[in-house]
Amino acid sequence: MTDDIAPPSLWSGDAVWAASAINFPVLFLDGDRLVHDANPAARALAEKLAPGSGPETLVGMVSDTDWATAVRQGHWQGVVRPEHMPPLALEIHCGHAPDSPHCIMVVLDISERGERKRQYEELQRTVDRLASTQEQLLQSEKMASIGQLAAGVAHEINNPIGYVGSNLGTLQDYGTALIALVEKYHEALFSDDPAAHRDELLQARQRLDIDYIVGDLPSLLNESREGIERVTKIVQDLKGFSRVGRDRQMQPADLLQGLDSTLNIVWNDLKYKVRLEKHYTALPPVECLASEINQVFLNLLLNAGQAIEQRGTIVLASGCDDSEAWISITDSGCGIPPEAMSHLFDPFFTTKPIGRGTGLGLAISYGIVAKHHGRIDVSSRVGQGSTFRVVLPIRQPRDGQEEGADRAG
Ligand SMILES: Nc1ncnc2c1ncn2[C@@H]1O[C@H](COP(=O)(O)OP(=O)(O)O)[C@@H](O)[C@H]1O
Ligand SMILES: [Mg+2]
Repeated sequence: MTDDIAPPSLWSGDAVWAASAINFPVLFLDGDRLVHDANPAARALAEKLAPGSGPETLVGMVSDTDWATAVRQGHWQGVVRPEHMPPLALEIHCGHAPDSPHCIMVVLDISERGERKRQYEELQRTVDRLASTQEQLLQSEKMASIGQLAAGVAHEINNPIGYVGSNLGTLQDYGTALIALVEKYHEALFSDDPAAHRDELLQARQRLDIDYIVGDLPSLLNESREGIERVTKIVQDLKGFSRVGRDRQMQPADLLQGLDSTLNIVWNDLKYKVRLEKHYTALPPVECLASEINQVFLNLLLNAGQAIEQRGTIVLASGCDDSEAWISITDSGCGIPPEAMSHLFDPFFTTKPIGRGTGLGLAISYGIVAKHHGRIDVSSRVGQGSTFRVVLPIRQPRDGQEEGADRAG
């Protein structure tokens, strides 16, 4: 209550009590502008405007004319600009009791409204910046895992290219020898006495090592063709990754083929320490963005390989029911401690040294699989190994039947 003498209150205790909890100034008055009550925010503002004064200071900001309007019309609102203070919005509501009107006056700091707007916009900009930073991070993780592979792929391509090149050199020599021999046959054939050249031809044949050439040539050609096929295959598999982010339309795809071609790319990193087992069950085509699902396989395969320190096994398996298909990647690696389980999919969660782990592989994989209305199940035992199982719906829910939308996890 103010110190002013006031008639028995026109205001219910509940209203006054409620106003005390509101953080902007509220005043209860009668028609003669006598303050019956004011909440703490009103007192604080009055103190700020004129130290030592009471809430009447706030009432004093309303001109006589405006006050009359409020009482007459039941409502008035306007803005006042006190000295050295941000502008204030005032609102007065008057009810008409038979003998005396009673009024509520509310004061709002508009500058604070402006400040909130500014803070909101700042926040919005921060959110935008974060979104684009995240986009860049995802992109750089993509680049990092691809970069990690590039060295392996280069080796994998270099190797066949190397022996195909050297085979070509040998084949060139063989060709020269064979042409030389053919020339000799030609000369003999068109000489007056071809039979007289027999010994000479036999000697040439021996000198040119034709028997060896005849034995070696088919295998050289076969080996070279295999080398070229291997390079072609790797290049095709790599194309599956270069499409990441470009094929926006989900299409039925062969998950096992995707897994195999992804494996083909990482195999160079794994082959020295990993024994591979495949327990595939045939899968129906699964509606997905194949290149992105391949990226999930890539991350899981790299993690499985990195979990195995010396030597170990990776088991790839698949299965399906009427609505879902799954691929699992099981490693006999270090396993995941229970306390790490709940953080696996957190961006930047990594237990690997700097330069080896970014902690984004699983976060990205989670995002990709969630977009496909699927999930990644994880089970693991420390010291024994881990299984990551990617479960995808065979058909994506059509618009309006998104009931599986938040099942990822
Ligand atoms: N197969 C696995 N075996 C053991 N730990 C794993 C396996 N896969 C993931 N993890 C754990 O999850 C963490 C996060 O994985 P990921 O998001 O791929 O990031 P990164 O591989 O860059 O660390 C890893 O650092 C590791 O601790
Ligand atoms: Mg990883």
